[in-house]
Amino acid sequence: MTQTTRRSFLHQTTLAAAAAAVGAGCSSTTSAKHLTKRGPVIISTWGFGKPANELALRTLQGGGSALDAVEQGIRLVEVSGNSSVGLSGKPNAAGVPQLDACIMNGPGHQAGSVAGVEGVVHPISAARLVMEKTPHVMLVGRGARWFSEQQGLKVLDPAKDEASYKAWLAAREKPSPGKGDKPDNHDTVTLIVLDTNGDLAGGCSTSGWSGKIPGRVGDSPIIGSGLYVDNEVGAAGATGLGENVMRYCASYAVVENMRHGMSPTEACAEAIRRIAKTDPAGMDLAINFIAINKQGEFGAAGTQANFPYSITTPEFSEVRKGQPLSQSTQKEGGNE
Ligand code: GLY
Repeated sequence: MTQTTRRSFLHQTTLAAAAAAVGAGCSSTTSAKHLTKRGPVIISTWGFGKPANELALRTLQGGGSALDAVEQGIRLVEVSGNSSVGLSGKPNAAGVPQLDACIMNGPGHQAGSVAGVEGVVHPISAARLVMEKTPHVMLVGRGARWFSEQQGLKVLDPAKDEASYKAWLAAREKPSPGKGDKPDNHDTVTLIVLDTNGDLAGGCSTSGWSGKIPGRVGDSPIIGSGLYVDNEVGAAGATGLGENVMRYCASYAVVENMRHGMSPTEACAEAIRRIAKTDPAGMDLAINFIAINKQGEFGAAGTQANFPYSITTPEFSEVRKGQPLSQSTQKEGGNE
């Protein structure tokens, strides 16, 4: 199918295409009917995103903005202890969690981020304050920590948590990562909200690669890599090995794919195929994307088998599986 024909096909088909677009595990027409109306729709990475989505929805229903909903949802994950997010996430090679986060607001195309920050309990709030209170987009390291303290955010002294860091160091015999090494695991939270006005906001938060070299920054705080929001088109975000995302501005690429007519799932899958085409790792990339368009259609795709993502509307809240990509589906015309 040519690109133009494919595009018009995607536009013309509504419920059927939308149902296909959300991938395996979404065959119910009840779910599909929610894909053709606008928000609120909230999507996030992994199963632990579901309670975050639900808090985001309550925030919207209580009169909060899409940005408030993103912040509240991600704050929940940052203190849940269930993921590689927040101070209970994965420490670096020096035994200290260095956290990355970013936030974007569709209206006004605003963005803020913090990277390599230590001791800040809610990096997502620090990112929002960078966006709202400074002329900058990104603060890093000690400056980001100092700014967070100045803004009244809760900041701990990582050294005071010495016992847990020492225990972690003792249990860990591996050296710092070397060229070609892969992380133990990655489970960044990326959460995107489409509100009832059709406005989008999104955020990500992570402690990044477990045992990373101190100072390493991943994709999550980099606008266009771990997250991208375009209020005219849609939004996308990533989880997985940041090094494989940030060299390709991959979330930006997903949004651009949607701009050119692809469904959210196909936009995610196409970005992965494009990266896999040039990356020596091929489909062994450990990257996953979620996306939502301005119409409230959503989807996900990943190289990690059955990448779970969470989707919440006022009518349902579920964990679903993104489109799995493998060598066999990276060719032109892979599964929707
Ligand atoms: N995706 C999170 C990271 O690589 O740091």
